[in-house]
Amino acid sequence: MTTPPRLELRNLSKRFGGLHAVSEMSFSVQRGEIFGLIGPNGAGKTTLFNLVAGVHKPSDGQVLHDGVDVTGKGIDVIARRGIGRTFQAAHTFKLETVRENLRRAALLQRSYGPWVHFWGPRARNEAQIEESSQQVAAFVGLTGQLDQTGGALPYGQQKMLGVAMALMTSPGVLLMDEPAAGLNSTEKVAMGALIRRLRDERGIDILLVEHDMRLVMSLSDRILVINQGRRIALGTPEAVQADPAVIEAYLGGDHELA
Ligand SMILES: Nc1ncnc2c1ncn2[C@@H]1O[C@H](COP(=O)(O)OP(=O)(O)O)[C@@H](O)[C@H]1O
Ligand SMILES: [Mg+2]
Repeated sequence: MTTPPRLELRNLSKRFGGLHAVSEMSFSVQRGEIFGLIGPNGAGKTTLFNLVAGVHKPSDGQVLHDGVDVTGKGIDVIARRGIGRTFQAAHTFKLETVRENLRRAALLQRSYGPWVHFWGPRARNEAQIEESSQQVAAFVGLTGQLDQTGGALPYGQQKMLGVAMALMTSPGVLLMDEPAAGLNSTEKVAMGALIRRLRDERGIDILLVEHDMRLVMSLSDRILVINQGRRIALGTPEAVQADPAVIEAYLGGDHELA
C-alpha cells in the first residue's frame, strides 16, 4: 500500500470571468516536503493558495488531502482537516495579548492530528488551551511575550505570532504566504530556521510562497514555477534556476525574480 501525497492537485483551474488565473495545474506535495511556489506578480500564486485553503472554489479539477477529495470544501472544513495557513500580512489581533491571540486560534482547533500528543487533542478546556499556548509560544520563541499585546510586538515577532496561531490548529500541512515579507535580514534567518524546524521536528509539510529567492531556494526540496496560471517548471532549486523557461519568464518582462 502506498501512502497518498499530503496534497495533490489534479488539473486545477480557476477563472475569474474571462481571466484564467490558474489553468490545469497538477502537482503533489509529498510527506516531509518543503514545497516552494514561485512566479512573477499576477502568476496565480495566491489564487492557487486560496483554492487549496478553501477560500475559492475551483472552476475545474480536484484537490486531494491525504488521498481524500476536498474539492470545493469551505475554509472551516479545510482547516479542521489539518490544512493550516499563514497570511502575508501579520494577521493578529493587535489589541489582544499574545496569549489571547493563541486562545482565539485554539478555538478553531480540529479534533485529531499529528500534534495531538504534543499540543493536546481538541482543546476541551481553558487549562489545555493555556498549556498548548505555552508550548506553541516556546516553539516559536514568544514565551517572554505572552502577556504583551500583538500590536506592541516588533513586526518580526508579529509574523512569528501569525505562525504560532496557525500551529494552534495542529496542521499536518501548512500553507505559508510570504512568511519573510517585511522582515529584516536577521528576522528572515529566524523565520527560515522556524520553517525548517516545523518540518524536521514537527513533521509538518510546507507549501511555501515566498519572494525572497535566497530563502525559498535554500529551504525548498522542490519548487514549482508558474506564470500566467500555468506551470513552467518543477524541480529542485538548482534545476529550476537553470531552466531557460524560468529565466525567460522572469527576464522576459519587467518582473523581479519572485
Ligand atoms: N478575486 C479575484 N477576482 C478577479 N481577478 C482576480 C482575483 N484574484 C486574483 N485575480 C487575478 O488573477 C490573476 C492571478 O492573481 P494572483 O493569484 O493574486 O497572483 P500572484 O499571487 O501570483 O501575484 C491576476 O491577474 C489577478 O488580477
Ligand atoms: Mg499573491
